[in-house]
Amino acid sequence: MAEEILKVEHLNKFYGDWQALHDINFSINKGEVVTLLGPSGSGKSTLIRTLNGLEPFKDGRIYFHGKQVDPNPKTWQDLRQKIGMVFQSYDLFPNLTVLDNILLAPVKVQGRDKAAVQKEALELLDRVELRNHADAYPRELSGGQKQRIAIVRALAMHPELMLFDEVTASLDPEMVRGVLKIIKELSDQDHMTMIIVTHEMNFAAKIADQVLFLENGRILEETPGQQFFDHPQTDRATEFLNSMDF
Ligand SMILES: Nc1ncnc2c1ncn2[C@@H]1O[C@H](COP(=O)(O)OP(=O)(O)O)[C@@H](O)[C@H]1O
Ligand SMILES: [Mg+2]
Repeated sequence: MAEEILKVEHLNKFYGDWQALHDINFSINKGEVVTLLGPSGSGKSTLIRTLNGLEPFKDGRIYFHGKQVDPNPKTWQDLRQKIGMVFQSYDLFPNLTVLDNILLAPVKVQGRDKAAVQKEALELLDRVELRNHADAYPRELSGGQKQRIAIVRALAMHPELMLFDEVTASLDPEMVRGVLKIIKELSDQDHMTMIIVTHEMNFAAKIADQVLFLENGRILEETPGQQFFDHPQTDRATEFLNSMDF
């Protein structure tokens, strides 16, 4: 039976008086990939940040493994360790080497054995073809390399859910493919549960089990991946796809 990792019910999110998310409902099962698509400003980042406890929400419910999450993100310390996130801007610590960036949270926050985490970190670096950069500093890496490190750093926490918010949006085109390949492998080989915001439509079409199409803070469509790309249900989604040039 499908194991539900996350469920969102009637979520409303306000910035001041202004409502950014309207009655959001969806769920994601273990091993599934949900892709959030929609025009700029439609609320994709707001939703993903709310799911990671980076934004408080006013009403509605979020369940993690069937257990309702407290809406106050200050109580999310434990939960946040189970939810890995990679943003558009690789937020590596500039004063730490690649390896120390990766070790920091598993050792300091999770209190895991440093030698064991280091062994695992080096294996992960191997996987993203950056083991020989373990002792480099972030400034010595390209954008694509930094983003691969940011992914490894999130994975080193053993997350149960990974959130990706336009992780290739600021990369040079030749860097994009390597990063997307890693995310695709995480789905195919590790069956990682993931929520992905992307403007790479070919990638989205290949990886998405489910597409949520947002506009003005509302889910206009919730459609199985390939079906969304072949037969979008709304005119707005059709228009969006036609504008994407893929
Ligand atoms: N911290 C904030 N304060 C006020 N408004 C915000 C804030 N962050 C985002 N918004 C607004 O919320 C809406 C959705 O933004 P966002 O979630 O970033 O959209 P997307 O990621 O789809 O481009 C936009 O109108 C944006 O201007
Ligand atoms: Mg965004």
